[in-house]
Amino acid sequence: MVLASTVITSLLLVVAAKPMDRRTMAVHETRAEPARGFVNSGLAPAAKDLTLRIALRPNNIAGLETALYAVSDPASALYGQHLTADEVAQFVKPTDETLSAVNEWLTENGISSTAVTPAGDMLQIVVPVEKANQLLSTDFSVFTHVESGATSIRTLEYSIPASLQGHIDFFHPTTSFTRPLTSRPKFTAVKTKPVVDAAPGSNAVPASCGSTITPSCLQAIYGIPATAATQSNNKLGVSGFIEQFANQADLKEFLTNFRTDISSSTVFTLQTLDGGTNTQTRADAGIEANLDTQYTIGIATGVPITFISVGENNSDGLDGFMDIITALIKEANGTRPNVLTTSYGFDESDLSRPVANTLCNAYMQLGALGTSILFSSGDGGVSGSQSQSCSTFIPTLPSDCPFVTSVGATGGITETAATFSSGGFSNYFAIPSYQSADVATYLSGLGSTNSGKFNRSGRGFPDVSAQGENFEIAWDTELGTVDGTSCSSPTFAAIVSLLNDRLVAAGKAPLGFLNPFLYSATGRAALNDVTTGDNPGCNTNGFPAKAGWDPVTGLGTPNFAKLLTAVGL
Ligand SMILES: *[C@@H]1O[C@H](CO)[C@@H](O)[C@H](O)[C@H]1NC(C)=O
Ligand SMILES: *[C@@H]1O[C@H](CO)[C@@H](O)[C@H](O)[C@H]1NC(C)=O
Ligand SMILES: *[C@@H]1O[C@H](CO)[C@@H](O)[C@H](O)[C@H]1NC(C)=O
Repeated sequence: MVLASTVITSLLLVVAAKPMDRRTMAVHETRAEPARGFVNSGLAPAAKDLTLRIALRPNNIAGLETALYAVSDPASALYGQHLTADEVAQFVKPTDETLSAVNEWLTENGISSTAVTPAGDMLQIVVPVEKANQLLSTDFSVFTHVESGATSIRTLEYSIPASLQGHIDFFHPTTSFTRPLTSRPKFTAVKTKPVVDAAPGSNAVPASCGSTITPSCLQAIYGIPATAATQSNNKLGVSGFIEQFANQADLKEFLTNFRTDISSSTVFTLQTLDGGTNTQTRADAGIEANLDTQYTIGIATGVPITFISVGENNSDGLDGFMDIITALIKEANGTRPNVLTTSYGFDESDLSRPVANTLCNAYMQLGALGTSILFSSGDGGVSGSQSQSCSTFIPTLPSDCPFVTSVGATGGITETAATFSSGGFSNYFAIPSYQSADVATYLSGLGSTNSGKFNRSGRGFPDVSAQGENFEIAWDTELGTVDGTSCSSPTFAAIVSLLNDRLVAAGKAPLGFLNPFLYSATGRAALNDVTTGDNPGCNTNGFPAKAGWDPVTGLGTPNFAKLLTAVGL
């Protein structure tokens, strides 16, 4: 018995050692050069363990997209009837044929995998570099991000068996690069303590709002009520990355100064994943995290705010961007936030198309479950997430995924586009039908301006905008101001949360994926069209804001009273 089993085992090993003989390999993904800012520092050490994710082809992603629009389009009979997690998983799970084909190949190579998503469409394996090189007919190398010195193991080309090309969307991280995320807003301390000269909830816009924005200013400019929300299940989630900690003591200082009408003991709750933490050492507070928590709590009065801290222990190759969505998809209905705001992002070209697609499809899943997903559009005008040199325009991701709401920035009491407001057109995602008429109108008005610098068939972004200049925050015991679309996304998200609070109180569904509503005749009529300013970059003036949708300010900024009517309240 013992002998026989030994013989069988070694026979299997002989087969496993020669997988290449049995499979015709086909190049699956390739990129000409590493992402901007990275250099190749040589081959990766053979024995080093690599954690790789394998995205399996979902069985019916088109069906999920149809279902998402059916529950998100106010004109649809199914509007507001969001899907359950099980219903979403039925669309996303791979077919049995895909599962067995991929498992057979992995088993042949002596590799075991674990599913990391509820639908089983994403597998994870841990193998030494040497094994990964053999499996994917590649040479993983070390790439150094020159500016930060950070290193990542990636490759510029890999192959998979030709027979599996219809089953595997991609291996990751391989040809996608994520530059170290940076916090965008810069803090300018205010020497003299600002005078808050607007009564909370007042509709008269004080002149001081022209130079410094406080919650009272936003309440006055957009007509946002100061009355408290009532629904304890209607959560607003604030994403936190790169050890940007949100500080409760700074929040208290902020509320003491700028929301004297509510308890200064109002706090956010903390949720963590991937080893995330939220140290309360005052000096370790992050500008971005403080801004995002202070302006969601400061505007969405009484809405429960959850700060979701994603740690450095992520292995999704996307700084935790995929992990946070997977975690939220797994949460029970009633616990999951109805709105999620994120003020971090990538330049689109840093990620490969298949990776960008799968990340975008994760937002499709969360949207189908009823969560509104908002991203700041970026602060580099047409030059991407941050100002940088460029010859063609750089779209920002995930903000240009068609299943999220991208928020650009404005400034001034008579609002004009903020020059840093990122916007433009995707090279990866086609124009979704909800905005096709708007994009066509804008492009025909634009004529040949910026010709050849952007993709005329790409999804246009941002979708909407909100104030984004001179936001007063508390940070590390000081008061000061920050600028950026990082101000705009939490502001818009807070307003959506207040609408949801009233919808849920009236026994209605929360808004979920917003864009079909926002672009509808009723939705756009509830927004203030911003028609002046532009977003320079890449040695151009960028795009001009115009009447109607434009790739600087989207459809415009919110008018709370009109939005209430538009959502049927
Ligand atoms: C989720 O819960 C809300 C109430 O909290 C309800 O209106 C909605 O129908 C539920 N959604 C699903 C998909 O069960
Ligand atoms: C990160 O992951 C490693 C390995 O699984 C574990 O030992 C470590 O405790 C984790 N760190 C945090 C902060 O969770
Ligand atoms: C332009 O966008 C379309 C639609 O997403 C895409 O198919 C095409 O590949 C893009 N072109 C380039 C050069 O990126």
